[in-house]
Amino acid sequence: MNSKELIALDLRHLWHPAAQMKDYETLPPLIVESAQGPFIHTADGREIIDGISSWWCKSLGHRHPRIREAVNRQLDRFEHVIFANTTSDTLVRFGEKMAQICPKLDKVFLADNGSTAVEIAMKMSLQYHLQTGNKERNTFVALHNGYHGETILTLAAGDCEIYSKPFANILPKVEKTDPLVYCLGPGSVGWDKYPDPAWNEIEKQLDMLAPRVAAVIFEPVIQGSGGMKIYSPDLLRRFRAWTDKHNIHLIADEIMTGFGRCGKMMACEYAGIIPDFATFSKGMTAGWGPMSAVMCSTETYNAFYGDYFSGKAFLHSNTYTGYPVTAAAALAAMEIYEEEKVIEKAPEKSARLRQLMEYVGSETGALNNIRAIGYMAAADIVNPETGKPFDYKQRTGFKFYQRAMDNGALLRPIGDTFYFLPPFNTPDDVLERMAEIAAKSLKQVIGKQ
Ligand SMILES: Cc1ncc(COP(=O)(O)O)c(C=O)c1O
Repeated sequence: MNSKELIALDLRHLWHPAAQMKDYETLPPLIVESAQGPFIHTADGREIIDGISSWWCKSLGHRHPRIREAVNRQLDRFEHVIFANTTSDTLVRFGEKMAQICPKLDKVFLADNGSTAVEIAMKMSLQYHLQTGNKERNTFVALHNGYHGETILTLAAGDCEIYSKPFANILPKVEKTDPLVYCLGPGSVGWDKYPDPAWNEIEKQLDMLAPRVAAVIFEPVIQGSGGMKIYSPDLLRRFRAWTDKHNIHLIADEIMTGFGRCGKMMACEYAGIIPDFATFSKGMTAGWGPMSAVMCSTETYNAFYGDYFSGKAFLHSNTYTGYPVTAAAALAAMEIYEEEKVIEKAPEKSARLRQLMEYVGSETGALNNIRAIGYMAAADIVNPETGKPFDYKQRTGFKFYQRAMDNGALLRPIGDTFYFLPPFNTPDDVLERMAEIAAKSLKQVIGKQ
């Protein structure tokens, strides 16, 4: 089958994610032949830099030899057995390693994607309150502009209308905070302290809801799908103090931020807080397969522990919970993160990515709000003539995406916000090439070239 036929057959049957399929008329799918390290190799012989780590998960690049070896070793033994009433050394070692991330969160519940993990944490929080004499705690507070996944409950917790609008009629009500005050990353103005007046407004809102709230849910420090927006970790300290006062949970959605992406194993570490639940996926397996985890404390776990007829058990199940193949990948990935000092190297890498984004800004004059944290940098595309955003109907970000793909980098923006979120181990010369491609593509889009 030649490439044209393959694409025609793809479009006849396959419905791709997060897309208006009509866009595929002008932006047909890349035909992936193979992928290695930071590169995707296409059927027409091109090498494309995976500048967004394939939706933020391929933290160690494609086909990392050590992870491949670990996965193959597991596959040689068995791939999956029901996790109810079975166990294996791979899963036990995985659980032990997970419990070391934040020693207070020493219980791990497994699922197979990020949305489900967040939904599980929310369900656990509700059930916990129900079983500890607080059944009136049956709602949540989430942050303005947050994103937590695509199931109905997580869409309700999210605040990205583009995904949730068609379902507005059936979404449970989740209160959202006032809009947040953002900053440009560690060390920038507004990073150390969340402004008192803005917090006071949020606190007023929270106080009114306090008796009904089971948990406050948030993406710690950076909101990914909401446009890579960074806020002061001080806000999280304030949430922790407030929720402690009211016996309310904190759910940290670390699905994007965790495992080094934001420069720490957990972004909550920036605030020095421990949430009641933390959810992980993406970088946990270095993108080697669908797997997610919800971490909580023994104290929380104990609220579900009792005789069978106490009815306290947490009866959530997904078929692929406890999938040993991805657990083997995660174990190898965690070893590599440690050995390659991913966390220690983050400040330097962050500065480099910020520099590269600044370079794109200076070449084009079309970037605003350049920001960086950990292994990511982002900026908003603006009209260089006016310094203002383009009309969203011009789809500038989408055009940039097309150009960048033609020029050799996968840099899929969020609206008109584009970002670098490459695998941690991307060599410097590849990062530079990625920035050159971004600058060239943006110039083409804004008519400078
Ligand atoms: C913060 C956050 N939570 C939840 C999710 C949902 O994860 P998944 O796509 O694996 O369902 C994402 C995905 O991007 C995310 O960034």
